[in-house]
Formats: sequence, C-alpha cells, structure tokens
Amino acid sequence: MPQATFKLTQDQIDFFRREGYLSIPALTTPEDVARIREIYDRLFTQRAGREKGDQFDLAGTDEEGKEAVMPQILNPAGYAPELNDTLLLANAGVLVHQLFGDKASFGFAHAIYKPPRISPETPWHQDASYWNPDYDYQSISIWVPLQEATLENGCMQFIPRSHVGMNILRHRSINNDPRIHGLELDPAEMHHVKNAVACPLPPGGATVHGGYMMHYAGANKSDIPRRAIILNGGLPGTKRAVPRDLYWNRVKKTLRTERALAAEQAGQKVQPPPRGAGEE
Ligand code: NI
Repeated sequence: MPQATFKLTQDQIDFFRREGYLSIPALTTPEDVARIREIYDRLFTQRAGREKGDQFDLAGTDEEGKEAVMPQILNPAGYAPELNDTLLLANAGVLVHQLFGDKASFGFAHAIYKPPRISPETPWHQDASYWNPDYDYQSISIWVPLQEATLENGCMQFIPRSHVGMNILRHRSINNDPRIHGLELDPAEMHHVKNAVACPLPPGGATVHGGYMMHYAGANKSDIPRRAIILNGGLPGTKRAVPRDLYWNRVKKTLRTERALAAEQAGQKVQPPPRGAGEE
C-alpha cells in the first residue's frame, strides 16, 4: 500500500463527532482516481460478483436481462485485489484510525454505479437499518465519487445530528417492494427529514458518515455516469442487551439472496460480507 498523505484536522474530527457527517475536498489524488476508475469500470463491465449475489440492482427487482437502474458491487477488492494498493485505501486507513483508534479495521465495502438519466434517487435511509439487529455499531462509510458529484448527478445529502442517540427509524424496501434490496425510510418517518445539507464534491473528495446518520443521494439526471466507491471502517459491533426489531429485513426476498444461496450450495466459496455490507 502506498504511503498515506492525508490527516484529519482536529476541527474536522470535532465537526464529525458533533454533526455526524463530514465532507472532505480531497482524500486522494487525480492520478489515483483515474486508476481506480479504470478498475471500477472493468468490474461493472464484467458484472463481477453477479453469480455470488455480490452484484445486483440496488433499486430494482434485479431480474436477469433487465437493465439495472442502480448496479452495486459488494466487496469490489475481492474481485480486483489491486484496489488494495491505492492511495485512497491508505488515506482512508489514517482517517479510520484517527476516529476509532489503532484497533479499527477498514477496507473497500462496495461500489455504486448510477447510469446517466435513468438512475433514480437513493432514498433517505440509515445504513444500520440493513445490519444485524443484535449489535450496536461504531463504524463509518467513506463515500468517494470518481467524477465530480453534484446535485444534478446525485451527490450525498445528510440530516445533521440525526446520528445522536443511535436510534433506527422504521424502514421498508424501496417502493414497499420486498423484491428490492435497497431500503427507504418509512413514509411515516419522513417528518424527520428536514434541514438537509447537500455535499457536492470534486473527484477523489469524500463524505464520511456513521451507521445511524440519515442520508440520501439524488437521481442521476446528468448525461454521464455517476460512479462512487465506498469504503468502511470501525470497531467490531457490541452486543445489545435487547436486539432491535428490524422487521423490514425479515420480509425481504431478493433474487440477489437466491443467487448467493445457490452459489453457496454449489460449493463456491462465498466471501464473508464486509462490515455494513449492502447499504446504500
Ligand atoms: Ni447508505
């Protein structure tokens, strides 16, 4: 891994702890972004991970032959180990260790591709709504656009301080369709969505948010793809005295899960999902 070139300032650390998110203008260099973008495009062209359920349409029903409106690849470095040799990963490691200490782990979690014009919004949600209800989490997602991220193509938006208290609001599958992997805030909870802050970024910039932060990304209404790669990091979850009731995950029935089970039964080695896999 290259030598890290990044460090958070104390002001940035304080802002993140208080507001629950952070916007960073440059987490890596244009050269590193160009290299990652090549790898990224190759993974999506090859539909890496499709058979194992690691590649699927986050916002659609994901039938074979149907154009995906928001393809996602979990664990991209499992399909392109050269991602582990990027400056982005080295700099993300510094950031994670500054926030969570030396015991924290980090790595590439997923990649989300929003094709031009047809890709819908990523609705408001909290990442922890996808996760194991038996645990509380101290972890972050680091969202990195590989071109400019704007309001027009779907930059990230946050509700400042919505992480306080680590509550998880009610969610459901997008459009209330349990065949869709992606989750959205239940309409009954939408009154919590107010004072949103949008975070446009240059390529190689980053936003940071924890698992309880409410966030959203707009549709891609532009003429170019919106590419984002997401890393995560943090500490192991801590077991809760009383598990949460994340009932929306029990009723979900996706083709992605079917493919993952079939691959497992066929004896293919299935990678354990990274922390917080499958969000956004
Ligand atoms: Ni998310």
